[in-house]
Order: sequence, then C-alpha cells, then structure tokens
Amino acid sequence: MRLQIIGPPGAGKGTQAVRLAERLGVPHLATGNLLRAAIAEGTELGLQAREFVERGDLVPDDLMIAFIAQRIDRPDCNGFVLDGFPRTVVQAKALDDMLEEAGRPLVAAIHLDVPEGELLRRLTGRRTCPTCHRSYHLESSPPDVDEVCDDDGSRLEIRADDEPDTVKHRLVVYRAETSELIGYYEDAGLLVHVLGVGSVDEVHERMWAAIEDRL
Ligand code: AP5
Repeated sequence: MRLQIIGPPGAGKGTQAVRLAERLGVPHLATGNLLRAAIAEGTELGLQAREFVERGDLVPDDLMIAFIAQRIDRPDCNGFVLDGFPRTVVQAKALDDMLEEAGRPLVAAIHLDVPEGELLRRLTGRRTCPTCHRSYHLESSPPDVDEVCDDDGSRLEIRADDEPDTVKHRLVVYRAETSELIGYYEDAGLLVHVLGVGSVDEVHERMWAAIEDRL
C-alpha cells in the first residue's frame, strides 16, 4: 500500500498518517519531521534546509527529491504513507518516475480538506514532541500531563514555524505551490477527497472508508 496525503498546514496530515501507517503496517515518511530532525542534528541537509523551513518556504526541489529517493529505496519501503512529499508538480513527477522504475506505483493520493479558520485554530494550539514528533493540541488533544509527551516524557515544544505570521505565509505557499497537486492526481485517477473536520477518530474512519476499496 503506497499512499500520500496532501493538505494545507494543520490539516492533520501527520496525525492521520501515523494512524494509517500503523493500521497498514508500513512506514510513515514525513518530510517535515525528517527535516526538523536533520536541522536539530546539524546534518548537511539540515544546514541547507534550515532557513527555508524557518521562513515557511519550500526547501528546493532538487534537495527534497534526492533526499526522498534514497529513503524510498530502502527495503522497508515496499509500502508507505508519505506525508509532506510531494509538494510541487516537479516533486510529484520525480516520485512517479522513482516508483515506476521500482514497479511500485502510488495507490492513492488523499486530499485532506479543512477550512482555513480551523487550520489557524489547530496550528496556534499545537504542541509537538521533539523526540517522537507526536502532535498534540491544547484543547482538542492535550497530553495527560501539561506540556509533557504521553509516549516518551519529553517536554513539548511550539514549532518555530507555528508563529502566526509564518503560519499565514505557509498557507500562501500551499495555495501557490502545492494545491495544484490536487488536479495533478485527479488527472492520474489517484485522488481521494476526505473532509478533515470532526474528531481524529472520525477523520481516520472516513479516510479508511475512502481508500478501503483500493487496498
Ligand atoms: P511539515 O511538517 O510537513 O508541515 P505542514 O505541511 O505545514 O503541515 P503541518 O505539520 O503543520 O500540519 P499537519 O497537516 O501535519 O497537521 P497535524 O497532524 O500536525 O513541513 C514543514 C516545512 O518543511 C515546510 O514548511 C517546508 O519548509 C519543509 N518541507 C517539508 N516537506 C517539504 C517538501 N516536500 N518540499 C519542500 N519543503 C518541504 O495537526 C495540526 C494540529 O491539529 C495538531 O495540534 C493536532 O493535534 C490537531 N488536529 C489534528 N487533527 C485534528 C482534528 N481532527 N480535530 C482537531 N484537531 C486536530
């Protein structure tokens, strides 16, 4: 099962991708998490990506394509849930080429649709675990103990790019550079629309029902 999730910042891609990947028994590949880890570790990729991520701009296509190509090539990637890649048509075409060459095409691209007011509410209340990357929300999914990750006890953080002006900029970048992927995958017959409002469980079940016949 090879899936990818498209949606604006705060749509719940990460939250839902973790659940889908667990249920399917495949890796969850989240380029945002991988980039933040690379930045924290000070790797070559992290150094090159840092200013783009902190500004809320996209990291250049060539860097992202090379990065995901070596990850997808690993033996555990017969199936996967991709979260945050591709983000441009150039990246989507490169992914198609990689998967075609490996004889493992995408099965579906899930578009997670959430109104903009709800996105802002979600991102301004988000807290994330720097260790396991789990996302919490101060109102809708708080941790058991204030500001502490339920899974590994790390102190929760506010992401650098969740500052309100950067969030607005990320939404502009999404509309300008990523939303055209919806048409790209529709033309390819791979697009599945899922409404991303309601509880996390409701959205998960809606998503599962939408892809079940492709499993
Ligand atoms: P990335 O980390 O991918 O950020 P994003 O796409 O902006 O998405 P978010 O992580 O902000 O949101 P999400 O949709 O995952 O929502 P979440 O589940 O956390 O990328 C960050 C940066 O890296 C980019 O800006 C770019 O610079 C760079 N980058 C990454 N990939 C790249 C690429 N391919 N090319 C170039 N650059 C790239 O949920 C959000 C909040 O809502 C949480 O608090 C959560 O608890 C809450 N929530 C979730 N579901 C619900 C629900 N149903 N009801 C209520 N609350 C909910």
